Amino acid sequence: MRLDKFVCKSTELTKSEAIQRIQLGQVSVNSKVRTNEATQVHENNAIILNGVKLKTRDFCYIMMHKPAGTVCSNIDEVYPSLFNYLELDNVSELHIAGRLDADTTGLVLVTDDGRWSFNLTLPAKECRKLYRVTLSQALSTERVEEITYRFKQGVQLQGESQLTLPAILEVITPTEVLLTITEGRFHQVKRMFAAVGNRVMSLHREQIGSISLDVEVGQWRYLTNDEVQSFSQ
Ligand code: URA
Repeated sequence: MRLDKFVCKSTELTKSEAIQRIQLGQVSVNSKVRTNEATQVHENNAIILNGVKLKTRDFCYIMMHKPAGTVCSNIDEVYPSLFNYLELDNVSELHIAGRLDADTTGLVLVTDDGRWSFNLTLPAKECRKLYRVTLSQALSTERVEEITYRFKQGVQLQGESQLTLPAILEVITPTEVLLTITEGRFHQVKRMFAAVGNRVMSLHREQIGSISLDVEVGQWRYLTNDEVQSFSQ
């Protein structure tokens, strides 16, 4: 592993902060100061930052299937917390990357790796989120064409000046559609359909990036290495 990655994994430093510390000569590997952040190191090496021996910790990455009527916060509010479904010791260290509303179901990613969830939620990364949406008003062929075009161009959400980024609409039935968005604005999907005169009756997230929901409602599993790596760039 690269020295900067090791420093990041074993401290709260960001990548640029870790590189700065290394370049300033504050990090030694097996008693030798190393100023090149790309130096390859092993977890068994004695790596010291300002006199403190560093030890990597393994982060935790989880997929959960959120049931309706749960909240994505660590504490029970009006509804029970989704975290009640996780029988783990380190629950208080975990957070959700991309929250869902209490009545929304589906894929939620949970981690204690702040940098990883930052990568996933940063709008500039344009990570695709796929939602299955049930609508109150059936869509005619003309409406589908119009909404597809408007979502592609970006719509104005109430109270916001910036148009939404291009989104993709796929129709399953006149009242059931798939919507792919790359942002995570507050109540975004519900507000996008409100902006085109419709109403979301139910909302379910099926996919984030290349990770597809494959556990039953209320269940969870650890992500595979490939799934974790897909957001590490
Ligand atoms: N958009 C919404 O409106 N709600 C969610 O829970 C997620 C996306």
